[in-house]
Amino acid sequence: MVVHVFDTPAQVAQAAAAVIAAQILQKPDSVLGLATGSTPMDTYRELISLHRGGVLDFSRVKSYNLDEYVGLPDGHPESYVSFMKRNLFDHINIGSYSLPDGRARDLQRECESYEQAIKDDGGIDMQLLGIGNNGHIGFNEPGEAFTYSTNLTTLAQSTIDANKRFFDSIDQVPRQALSMGIGTIMEARSILLLALGEAKAQAVYQMIRGPITPRLPASILRSHARVTVMLDKAAAARL
Ligand code: PGA
Repeated sequence: MVVHVFDTPAQVAQAAAAVIAAQILQKPDSVLGLATGSTPMDTYRELISLHRGGVLDFSRVKSYNLDEYVGLPDGHPESYVSFMKRNLFDHINIGSYSLPDGRARDLQRECESYEQAIKDDGGIDMQLLGIGNNGHIGFNEPGEAFTYSTNLTTLAQSTIDANKRFFDSIDQVPRQALSMGIGTIMEARSILLLALGEAKAQAVYQMIRGPITPRLPASILRSHARVTVMLDKAAAARL
């Protein structure tokens, strides 16, 4: 694991965009794994600006997002597909993008076909990740065992609490989601994890210094050969 600590969130975003840009420049038909949440938003802004400046061409890039809520109505502004359009896809020339369909009638089958689609595209070259306050990656919540492939998952109460800021009330936060599994994430050829702010300091500390355990799902990343972690000072405070 290569760990970089930057003074500001803006520097994290610039560094993360530089790494993603290098990936696309080196392999224009890269398959990217993308993430939602507050953390990657400035990174996406940097990528948009590289695209607008004529530096980055996404036309041959394919992307797969980590996860999607189950049960939100079509076009809901807080669905992850809406988030991704608003914050990235509507502003670049992405070749194609996919998210798990949280409105599929057969959710189990949707998980299987999502996993297969990633494989059919040759697997993920670079997976972008945030980390939950509880150490989750994607919606792989702390538990007794690591998940393997894309799965239907129930959000931890701590995740519901963390995500309620995006909804009018806590009752509106979906309780379930489809998420790439830990196995799906670990199959990515490289991983870039970002964490910002003091609320992440404990999870970051446990990820880097604690035991590798499904109780802190991100800790498994230490057994991946190519992981880069970018932190601001606040998220690195306990290291
Ligand atoms: P955040 O979420 O970027 O909104 O903090 C990260 C996560 O829960 O994985």
